[in-house]
This record gives sequence, structure tokens and C-alpha cells, in this order.
Amino acid sequence: MIANFIKFQQYGDERGALVALEDMKNVPFPIRRIYYMFGCAEGVLRGEHAHKQLKQVLIAVRGSCRFLLDDGHSRTEVVLDDPAQGLLVDPMVWHEMWDFSEDCLLMALADAHYDEADYIRNYQEFLRNAAQ
Ligand code: TYD
Repeated sequence: MIANFIKFQQYGDERGALVALEDMKNVPFPIRRIYYMFGCAEGVLRGEHAHKQLKQVLIAVRGSCRFLLDDGHSRTEVVLDDPAQGLLVDPMVWHEMWDFSEDCLLMALADAHYDEADYIRNYQEFLRNAAQ
């Protein structure tokens, strides 16, 4: 599968850089939730789930990690290491994150509030649903 990146406009001068995120503009959905991960130890694997409905954009605001996208038919692995770039993660995409740099701050913008019922945490169940 293809990884869909959004390149954010970066405003920069000698004072530093700035990126602005606006829903329905450079983020293609209403932002209902923001969460972020940090302090992820070496060797840790996160994610390992898909969402039934949720749309997300993932941004490595600082540092880097590896990211696997799997739509049930093919897999793509990308590196997130650019604070001016967001990775779009659609519903029914199994995803995993690992190889976090010590300073990694991984931010997610989501179009819905947290809902455990929206998660598919079993890979075989994901494959059964993805095949439809
Ligand atoms: P988890 O889904 O295991 O994180 P990851 O996908 O990165 O492996 O979530 C970790 C914990 O945080 C879990 O107890 C659920 C909770 N959580 C919330 O309460 N709200 C949220 O928006 C998210 C993403 C997780």
C-alpha cells in the first residue's frame, strides 16, 4: 500500500521554524482529539491495531520512529522524522511503530474521541475484516 504524506508549510526565519495545523485545511478532517507519545524505550513496539472508523495524522514532532502500514493486502514501512510532514492513517489500516529515538515525540491528530470499541487489536480479525 502507498503511504500518504501531507507536507506542511514551514514558516521559518532566523528565529526558528513554525508549522500550523488547521482542520479541514492542511489536516483533511475535523480534529476531535490530539494525543502524543514520548519516552518510548528502545525495543518497544506500539500500535499493533487498526481502527474501524478513525482517521488520523501522525507527526514526529521531534526525533524519529519507524511506522508500518498494512491494509490487509500489502505492507509499507516508512520513517517518520520530519516535523513538517504528517502521515495519513486511514480506517482499516493495521499500524505499528517502533525504533523510537530517545527524544521521539510522536503526535497524533484524530477525527474522533477515544473509543476502545473502534479498535481491532487482533491481527487475524483485522485480516478477516480487511478482506471484505
Ligand atoms: P494504546 O492503544 O495501547 O497505545 P498504542 O497504540 O500507542 O500502543 O494506549 C495506551 C493507553 O492509553 C491505553 O490504556 C488507552 C489509553 N488511551 C486513551 O485513554 N486515550 C487515547 O486517546 C489513546 C490513544 C489511548
